[in-house]
Amino acid sequence: FKKLDDLSDIAGKRVLVRVDLNVPMNGGKVTDTTRIERVLPTIHELSEKGAKVILLAHFGRPKGQRVADMSLEPVAQPLADLLLAPVDFADDCVGKSAEDAIAELSDGDVLLLENTRFHAGEEKNDPAFAKDLAELGDIYVNDAFSAAHRAHGSTEGIAKLLPAYAGRTMQAELEALGSALGEPKRPVLAVVGGAKVSSKIDLLENLVGKVDMLVIGGGMANTFMAANGINVGKSLCEHDLADTARRIMAAAEKSGCEIVLPADAVVAREFKAGAENETVALDAIPSDAMMLDVGSASITKVAEKIDAANTLVWNGPLGAFEIAPFDKATVAAARHAAERTKSGKLNSVAGGGDTVAALNHAGAADDFSYVSTAGGAFLEWLEGKELPGVKALEA
Ligand code: 3PG
Repeated sequence: FKKLDDLSDIAGKRVLVRVDLNVPMNGGKVTDTTRIERVLPTIHELSEKGAKVILLAHFGRPKGQRVADMSLEPVAQPLADLLLAPVDFADDCVGKSAEDAIAELSDGDVLLLENTRFHAGEEKNDPAFAKDLAELGDIYVNDAFSAAHRAHGSTEGIAKLLPAYAGRTMQAELEALGSALGEPKRPVLAVVGGAKVSSKIDLLENLVGKVDMLVIGGGMANTFMAANGINVGKSLCEHDLADTARRIMAAAEKSGCEIVLPADAVVAREFKAGAENETVALDAIPSDAMMLDVGSASITKVAEKIDAANTLVWNGPLGAFEIAPFDKATVAAARHAAERTKSGKLNSVAGGGDTVAALNHAGAADDFSYVSTAGGAFLEWLEGKELPGVKALEA
């Protein structure tokens, strides 16, 4: 794919930049600016070179209609504050209001267009909608890896109609992911947690064929343990997926991937912060208790695997990290990985859903080699799927 380095003479050009501004919002206020911060380098670079920077983004899932509380307008000011430059806003992403706002731009100015998903053509990837978007610019830059799993007008359709380039965040993301699973320094360790196996079957099947060690944690570990004949009591467990779990373990054995399951269990009778709990051996999980975290024997085992690895891919927490004290294993493992990364011995890449929150909670995110802000896109990448927004840049 082409990068911003391949762009020259862009002064005065209209550059359409697809960004991901699908940020957490509460009562019309942005509550977490991580994704906004990620898009700054590309905007700065293009603006400094004198381009007219026109931002395309979606927000929420308004299903092709104008929904007042899914406007991107509340994002314009926080973006301007972080950019240290004004950001204009147009209340539609195509048509007259967008055209008029673009006509007013001076070189280096930044304009944010309203939610692309207010038009049904966006999610349908309607060629007519992609053409309307493309007519607003001379060049297209995609800096939204986290939306690249969607084959939409502003991520895929438009890339075929204009000279298309990867933005700096897209580039960093693809380079980080490539270094973790593309051509990694072995041994490669994957840590996969989270509640359910059902949402991660494809991911586990892909990973056992690629990595050397796979730690399975969180609620999904219970399903694997139950498949191995362990009584998991009242723990979250998808008993109907026992065969799937056994199939994944057999595939791992065949490909030489070591699967690492919990060695002990932290159990409680209530799912709430501060619930009374105890650490027990795997053959002693009380029938009326549920596993909410793993204990020190498991933490030691995970730490040993991290020490044995040169590359780490992390997705999902190891326990119910959102309610203390069941965050212990996730925090300990995250900090251990952060330390090894800091000492230059580990390339650590993390992403997907709760993962960023878990690493932030552990105070470890800044020390990982790369933390992706992508949710679904990161998972699809871990599943080994081709992302349409990335593919369109390669065409
Ligand atoms: C995300 O938040 O993961 C991306 O912005 C994609 O959003 P979507 O799942 O609504 O397509």
